[in-house]
Amino acid sequence: MMETSRPTVYIETYGCQMNVSDSELMLGKLAASGYTPVDVPDGADVILVNTCAIRDHAEQRVIGRLGELKRHMTATSIMGVTGCMAQRLGPQLLEKAKHVSLVVGPDGYRTLPAMVDSARNGQRTIATTFDMEEHYEDFTPRRFDKVKAWIPVQRGCDYRCTYCIVPTTRGSERSRQLPDVVREVEGVVSEGMTEVVLLGQTVNSYNDGTHDFADLLRAVGAVRGIRRVRYTSPHPNDFSDRVIRAMAEVPTVCEHVHLPMQSGSTKTLKRMLRRYTREGYAECVQKLRAAIPGLSITTDIIVGFPGETDADFEETLSAVRELGFADAFMFIFSPRDGTPATRMPEELTVPQDVAAERMARLVETVRAGARALNLTQLGQRREVLVEREAKRGEAMVLARSRDFRSVLVPGDATLLGQYLTVELTGTTGSTFTGQIVSERAALPLAG
Ligand code: SAH
Ligand code: SF4
Ligand code: F3S
Repeated sequence: MMETSRPTVYIETYGCQMNVSDSELMLGKLAASGYTPVDVPDGADVILVNTCAIRDHAEQRVIGRLGELKRHMTATSIMGVTGCMAQRLGPQLLEKAKHVSLVVGPDGYRTLPAMVDSARNGQRTIATTFDMEEHYEDFTPRRFDKVKAWIPVQRGCDYRCTYCIVPTTRGSERSRQLPDVVREVEGVVSEGMTEVVLLGQTVNSYNDGTHDFADLLRAVGAVRGIRRVRYTSPHPNDFSDRVIRAMAEVPTVCEHVHLPMQSGSTKTLKRMLRRYTREGYAECVQKLRAAIPGLSITTDIIVGFPGETDADFEETLSAVRELGFADAFMFIFSPRDGTPATRMPEELTVPQDVAAERMARLVETVRAGARALNLTQLGQRREVLVEREAKRGEAMVLARSRDFRSVLVPGDATLLGQYLTVELTGTTGSTFTGQIVSERAALPLAG
């Protein structure tokens, strides 16, 4: 009986949304080639781990996980490592984990079915060549999320921030053709989804040779049946007036920007090669806020970058206090092999205990700011889209406002994908609680 059933594939994803989107493409490709996707690794014929290399901690977690997953393999299962760690480490991964037989970087997924087949026939394969033309245009992604769709619009990165491994793991920047993106968005709507998130490492530098990101926002925003358009992550330097105007004028584009600041110190930003100053970043925020009423801004911040002094760090804290972020992802600098930051003079290294202390103060400052902001919003109404059930058995669902606030409201799985109007009644950390004011089905979709 086993011989006649379709082989199964399990995939586990680490890292950013781009990786989630890549996993969806890989799973779609393998499903089209006769594999059945499964939700648990136990006994799967193919186990894939789609990895992230952004910080050492992310890599260590994956190394540990590869060992754990080994226990779920049968005598005939194979394991593959894909994504940014695969690209960065290549053959070293085969050395480190003897039970891994496939290592494929982000541009190598086109031939995944053939490589998986040969791995199942006992061959170990590595594919880490970049392909500037590759967008997996003819793949049909198998989406994990039923409410919002990840839409990659750009791959790679042409910035060279001195701390960052991404240009090494994902190669040069390239954009998909606008009509291809629009076609994918139309497909997503016909499957019943109403929200899309456009993805790229510096997504607002999108340019397909004819169209820029402003054109893309207008085209995607006008797709019939789309109610919410988001994008991540933009770079402050690529917010042209055209892009800001498009964001302000297209009603489906949501009032939220995730705008990584990294540091509030111009000196540090310069060493990071971020290509903007503290003032330049603040000016970008002001322009966006002036154009888009009710805009909420979230950010990424790194502490302990080489050469960051107490005074530099204080500038990051004051920027956080001044700019009114709704939330922030915060990271302790992690040196990545081969990046320029690792070649900075030894004496610039910030000791771990100092970095940890700064991190604690930053977290406190971000939380205090977010809380103060949230308190001003209690009693307000928001249109929210129900994304998922909260914890099991709690009879609560997590919904998202256009300005990217999480709101916990009473309800169950029947509400998934529905739009509700809620009143914000309480706030705990970065989440609100809300009461449903009006419940209505999602608008009829395109057709
Ligand atoms: N392309 C995006 C960032 C992608 S990486 C951008 O430029 O905004 C996501 C975040 O990880 C970064 O914004 C940065 O804050 C953090 N990060 C990247 N490399 C890091 C490193 N070596 N150590 C610590 N944090 C890092
Ligand atoms: Fe990394 Fe900078 Fe590119 Fe973002 S813009 S992916 S931080 S090099
Ligand atoms: Fe990680 Fe690669 Fe994304 S390094 S953050 S998975 S681009």
